[in-house]
Amino acid sequence: MAGGKLTVKTLAAMRKRGEKIVALTAYDYHTARMEQQAGVHVILVGDSFQMAVLGEDTTLGASVDVLIAHCRAVKKGAPDALVVGDMPFGSYQPSDETAVASAVRFIAEAGVDAVKLEGGNNAAVSRVRAIVSAGIPVMGHIGLLPQSIRSEGSYRVVRSDSEEMLLRQTKDLEDAGAFSLVLEMIEEEVADAISRASSIPTIGIGAGRYTHGQILVVNDMLGINRAFNPKFLRKYADLNSVMEEAIGSYVSDVAGGTFPGEENVFKGRGKAR
Ligand code: KIV
Repeated sequence: MAGGKLTVKTLAAMRKRGEKIVALTAYDYHTARMEQQAGVHVILVGDSFQMAVLGEDTTLGASVDVLIAHCRAVKKGAPDALVVGDMPFGSYQPSDETAVASAVRFIAEAGVDAVKLEGGNNAAVSRVRAIVSAGIPVMGHIGLLPQSIRSEGSYRVVRSDSEEMLLRQTKDLEDAGAFSLVLEMIEEEVADAISRASSIPTIGIGAGRYTHGQILVVNDMLGINRAFNPKFLRKYADLNSVMEEAIGSYVSDVAGGTFPGEENVFKGRGKAR
């Protein structure tokens, strides 16, 4: 990456200079390598893995062990990007102590640069403060909180009636030491007000044009899931069609006896040629 290793300080400087921060999720080595090569600044190993890769309806079943394994692969593929490990449901909610212990695992076992957790209420702010006090950078996440789906009931856009609360949460998370804030599914005007009021960079998903950066789930923007087409998503590829076509060709080649071909076989009864 031009300019060397990206850190949380780089993000603060980018915000100051008015440069947009490019963030994207990744869950494996090769995707992370391509993302770093393309100039992605922040790579989030999101608990969205549970939905985007495993096909679950929610993120609630994500586990620290699984995410750490994927963080390690992503870190290896993108050593110069800022790699953030997403703390899954249950890994920080019980207490500040649990939160610090889980965050330490992400740093020590996966080598990530920071962790992310959801929420802006008193408990979440306390978890952020505790993890930051342990020397670990934390990205906050407010607006739509996928880990709260059981109490919220559905994935809904957060509207202006929540603006005051979101502004308060932004200030609380900043004071607790968060270095950045994901704003998920928030009306553009509200996300703009939050971004102007905050002293740390905001990174939006479904939060309009005026956040300091943008993030998408990589499988979604590559069009792997034909059925997932929310308004906020732009698909940069149609991998669903590409993969279906390729797999279909393989099936007909094997069925028709044209694969393997001459060029794919080993011959010579073991004699060197
Ligand atoms: O898990 C995830 O991928 C996320 C992003 C949508 C911000 O939290």
